[in-house]
Amino acid sequence: MRVIVENDYQSMSRKAALLLASQVNLKPNSVLGLATGSTPEGMYQELVKMYHRGEIDFSEVVTFNLDEYYKLPPENEESYHYYMHENFFKHVNLHPENTNIPRGMVEKVETECWYYEEKIRRAGGIDLQVLGIGSNGHIGFNEPGDRLNVTTKLVELTEETIESNSRFFDSLDKVPRKAISVGMATILKARRIILLASGKNKAEAIKKTINGYVDTRIPSSLLQTHPETTLIIDEEAASLL
Ligand code: PGA
Repeated sequence: MRVIVENDYQSMSRKAALLLASQVNLKPNSVLGLATGSTPEGMYQELVKMYHRGEIDFSEVVTFNLDEYYKLPPENEESYHYYMHENFFKHVNLHPENTNIPRGMVEKVETECWYYEEKIRRAGGIDLQVLGIGSNGHIGFNEPGDRLNVTTKLVELTEETIESNSRFFDSLDKVPRKAISVGMATILKARRIILLASGKNKAEAIKKTINGYVDTRIPSSLLQTHPETTLIIDEEAASLL
C-alpha cells in the first residue's frame, strides 16, 4: 500500500485527478470505478478543468459508481445519480450510455445487483477504482460488521453512516436506511485503487486502514491485501500515522 500525504484538500484533489488522468491518457477506453461524497468533489472539479484545457478525453471511458441509495429517485438531489450528473457527467464528454450507477428504484433488487456485476465483468473489469472512506472505515457502503458482502448487494446502513450523511438531508428521518453497494471483491478485483481522505475525522480510520489487522469491522483494512492501492490523504487525515 502506497501512501501519498498532501498538504491540504486542494492538493489531494489535484493529485487524485492527475492519477486518474494518467490512467485515461494511457488507456483511453479505461473502465473507472467512481465514488461520491464530499471528498471526491474537488477531484471532479480538477478533472473538469483538465477536460476544458484539452488534457483529458472521456469519449471512450466507461464508468461504474460504487453505490446508490435504495428507493431514492434519481432526480432527488441527494441521490448519487444526481450527484454524478451535477458534479461530473454533465461537464465532460462521457457518453451517457457508458456511465453506470446501481438503480435504487428497481423492483427486483437482486436482479439489479446481479446485472450490475455482470456489466462490470462484460466491460472487462475495473481498471482504476476511486474510493472515499467513512469515518467508520466503510468503503462504498460496505459497512463494518462480522461479515462483508463479496458482490453487489442491498445493504443496511449503520446508524453512524445515517447520522453522518444526514448533513445532506433536511432531517435524519429523510436519510434512506438502505443502499445498493458493490461488494468487497468487486472493489478488490480492480487493477488499481486510489483512496482519498481529507480531514481529522478520517484520521482514525486511515490509521486502522494502514496499520491495523485486516478486519471486517474496518472494511478499508482489506485494501492491505490489494497489490496496487494508493492512499492520497491530506495532513489532517494523516495526523495519527
Ligand atoms: P465523505 O464520505 O467523502 O462525504 O466524507 C465518504 C464515505 O462515506 O465513503
